[in-house]
Amino acid sequence: MTTNKETEPNIYNHAINDPQIYVRRCKLEDLDAVIEINEKELPEDYPYFFYKSILDEFPESFLVAQNKNGKIIGYIMWRVEKTPSPHSLKYINKAHLVSIAVSEGYRRKGIARVLLSNSMTAIKKHKIKEYVLEVRVSNYTAIRLYEKFNYKIEGIKKNYYRDGENAYYMTLSIA
Ligand SMILES: CC(C)(COP(=O)(O)OP(=O)(O)OC[C@H]1O[C@@H](n2cnc3c(N)ncnc32)[C@H](O)[C@@H]1OP(=O)(O)O)[C@@H](O)C(=O)NCCC(=O)NCCS
Repeated sequence: MTTNKETEPNIYNHAINDPQIYVRRCKLEDLDAVIEINEKELPEDYPYFFYKSILDEFPESFLVAQNKNGKIIGYIMWRVEKTPSPHSLKYINKAHLVSIAVSEGYRRKGIARVLLSNSMTAIKKHKIKEYVLEVRVSNYTAIRLYEKFNYKIEGIKKNYYRDGENAYYMTLSIA
């Protein structure tokens, strides 16, 4: 079924350099397509129940991009983690980027930018203080994307990935 702006809430299609592509919230029936993109574009695989639990818990920041035929061509998902505050004995909420990917034929159209900006806004409802993520030190493309959003490299996590590659830990505080 093709959805459109009039019938579908939570659509964010601005800033994609293709008027027939838009970003919207993920639905349960999109998960197989999301998993397919993940398995094609990223070495990190997760079981179905993991995606489902993220969708159940944080649906507002689990977004997909679809093309004019309704095919899912990108996604982003986040989770919220409670961690001790560095400044007090209280706990704070951090938004942790779980995964983002755009299918290869659709890159460089601004899709990741729209996925990231709208999901970051959406997850603020959890009163988060910081956005955090890990990225392979070799993933120049993704690092450039995060830097565009003012994320800074806060440290390196050695041997973070299953194949032994190190990760940059990047963070962005909410003012
Ligand atoms: C990283 C990824 C999600 C970017 O998706 P995208 O839709 O092509 O990105 P956008 O078109 O929104 O680009 C946004 C910015 O990212 C950076 N960027 C994207 N592709 C880039 C490239 N090939 N080279 C350099 N910078 C790049 C640029 O700063 C770009 O802004 P600009 O176009 O104004 O220069 C995509 O390349 C991808 O799916 N890669 C494989 C999965 C992956 O690595 N995910 C991240 C895991 S941490």
